Amino acid sequence: MSSTVITNIASLVTNDPSLGDSSALGLIQDAAVVIDGDRIAWAGESSKAPATDNRVDAGGRAVIPGFVDSHSHLVFAGDRTQEFNARMSGRGYSAGGIRTTVAATRAATDAELEEGLVRYLAEALRQGTTTLETKSGYGLTVEDEARALRIAAAHMDEVTYLGAHIVSPDYADDPAAYVALVTGEMLDACAPHARWIDVFCEQGAFDGDQARAILTAGRAKGLHPRIHANQLSYGPGVQLAVELDAASADHCTHLTDADVDALANSRTVATLLPGAEFSTRAQWPDARRLLDAGVTVALSTDCNPGSSFTSSVPFCIALAVRDMRMTPDEALWSATAGGAQALRRTDLGRLTPGAYADLAILDAPSHVHLAYRPGVPLVSEVWRHGRRVA
Ligand code: NIG
Ligand code: FE
Repeated sequence: MSSTVITNIASLVTNDPSLGDSSALGLIQDAAVVIDGDRIAWAGESSKAPATDNRVDAGGRAVIPGFVDSHSHLVFAGDRTQEFNARMSGRGYSAGGIRTTVAATRAATDAELEEGLVRYLAEALRQGTTTLETKSGYGLTVEDEARALRIAAAHMDEVTYLGAHIVSPDYADDPAAYVALVTGEMLDACAPHARWIDVFCEQGAFDGDQARAILTAGRAKGLHPRIHANQLSYGPGVQLAVELDAASADHCTHLTDADVDALANSRTVATLLPGAEFSTRAQWPDARRLLDAGVTVALSTDCNPGSSFTSSVPFCIALAVRDMRMTPDEALWSATAGGAQALRRTDLGRLTPGAYADLAILDAPSHVHLAYRPGVPLVSEVWRHGRRVA
């Protein structure tokens, strides 16, 4: 194992308040970071860096933790350009569009699904994302859900069983029978390949009682809950997430004061997905309201072919800052440490001794440029587990 120092960093985000300026970002100016094997060994002012085998000069650029994108749907086939076009001409978005992708995904070969996943993972990595979570949910049969998870698990650690994305079209007349399948045979086939279980708790998908039954069954098989909650309308999803100690309630676009209070008094992270509101022309989730109430907020892409076909965390940061009233510091924290917390991981999303050496070097002197220069590809180098990968 050899050690490497990245030095001459104008501004380093560690996300460790005990390092640097004692803000949440733990910012250090004129900094260096030392990598030993796949982990961070040291971070601090460059003049104090210990001796190492190798030296990399960051040339006065900024260094941030790699993005932790804790919500995506990358195992799919087909394309929904027409649906997007119709929305941009005034049509609304509904859960029903998922059926189009289900049909295309069922018809695809394993190799086609895997090729797509690998392509989107590489696309995300180039944009600074060093950890991604992804879900099943476009198969909705025992075999198609299990194969989606098998394909995902071959490439990533954070995999989520979402057999309860919508009621399968095959069970349109008998939703209760579909819930029985999702909590029975399908769960048995899927649990070995997943760490998480998720439900789309929404009108047109699953109600609160169905969602509770599904998540509870998953928990009994060792899966941890997370929920698509309160995306398109007010509803029971957020309260259920808190009740079940879900790692995350995702979307959180329509929240009552009681929902916000419940989140603030829980360990459940609110994961905001502004790519979905952008791409469905919906109202923005109110990040400021959540942050001011003391809720922990994560920011993710929700990358999927229907509601948010972007793999770009920098784009989501720019939206969150411009339209969701987050500061650039808050948005960066939420897209790194916040994402890690939404996955209940303490070894990711921070550049502090012992954490994975997952980081991005920006073509900019500060992380603030991610929002200040929207749409500009500022990620110039990506390191994952101690190795340069992009
Ligand atoms: O997170 N909300 C449910 N699922 C996805 C959308 C899936 C689709 O439209 O294909 C989401 O937005
Ligand atoms: Fe989603």
